[in-house]
Amino acid sequence: MPLLSMTSLLRHALDGGYAVGYFEAWNLESLLAVKDAAEAAESPVIIGFNGKFLGNRHRRVKEIIDHYGSLGRSVAEHARVPIALILNEAYEPALLQAALDAGFNVVMHDHEGCSLEQSIQINISLVRAAHAVGAEVEAELGELPAWDIGEKKMSAGIATDPGEAERFVTMTGVDALAVAVGNVHILEGRKSRLDLDLLAQLRKRIRIPLVLHGGTGIEKDDLKAAIAAGICKVNVGTALRRTFINSMKGYFQKHDADILDPGEVTSTGGELDMLAAARADVAAEVVRLMRIFGSVKKAGA
Ligand code: 13P
Repeated sequence: MPLLSMTSLLRHALDGGYAVGYFEAWNLESLLAVKDAAEAAESPVIIGFNGKFLGNRHRRVKEIIDHYGSLGRSVAEHARVPIALILNEAYEPALLQAALDAGFNVVMHDHEGCSLEQSIQINISLVRAAHAVGAEVEAELGELPAWDIGEKKMSAGIATDPGEAERFVTMTGVDALAVAVGNVHILEGRKSRLDLDLLAQLRKRIRIPLVLHGGTGIEKDDLKAAIAAGICKVNVGTALRRTFINSMKGYFQKHDADILDPGEVTSTGGELDMLAAARADVAAEVVRLMRIFGSVKKAGA
């Protein structure tokens, strides 16, 4: 079906007491894995890519955002479930504009290093550009800590202030707001705990859909409590990348690729194809998370 607006999916979720997952892809297999999962679970879903990764200036090859927009739109159009398509967390306004031109129907600016006033101005312009083409804008206020897996250290975060959030939303006109309430980016091996009182205060003052980033590292019961308290979108990235890596590691432990036909290993989609196996493993992880978010069987509801 054609792309649907993210807020239409999120309003439905809010009414139904569940959350729609944004499951971040990085290539064709991961994107299709999310679509496979959504169809298997009969769940609405938000698909997309990360603007910081695609726009990373250390990439060996500069990516053309148009390819990713076309891929996402094509996947949505052939899917049997409702889908919105986001370019998540992009720094450069030019990349965000390119994403709108490429057909993403949601964009999000990454405000790291920006003052509040700069972030307000960038989002005012982004909302104008997005709404002009029927797209929407997610923004973030506050800052999530990030877990450094090598150093086993957490960076400092800034919790979202309810008064500031209310002013930000009124001034910018953004369509959804990601909040920092104890959630942590890229957290593995341990779980963050959410400040549900702060979330309740935010919910009281903010009328637009609220979003939790850092879905990988949130305790299952906290996730359910946050959804009951009005979170209607949860972002997951690291858990899917880890599943993909583990699937490939498992493949090489089980098979000696040196004595297999390279076509079987990478291309046929059959029993010996490691990419097909990784796609299936990522899809299984997405379905597991959709059950926690409560979005299973909500596609046609
Ligand atoms: P995790 O990688 O911690 O799941 O967070 C993903 C995310 O918030 C993307 O916006």
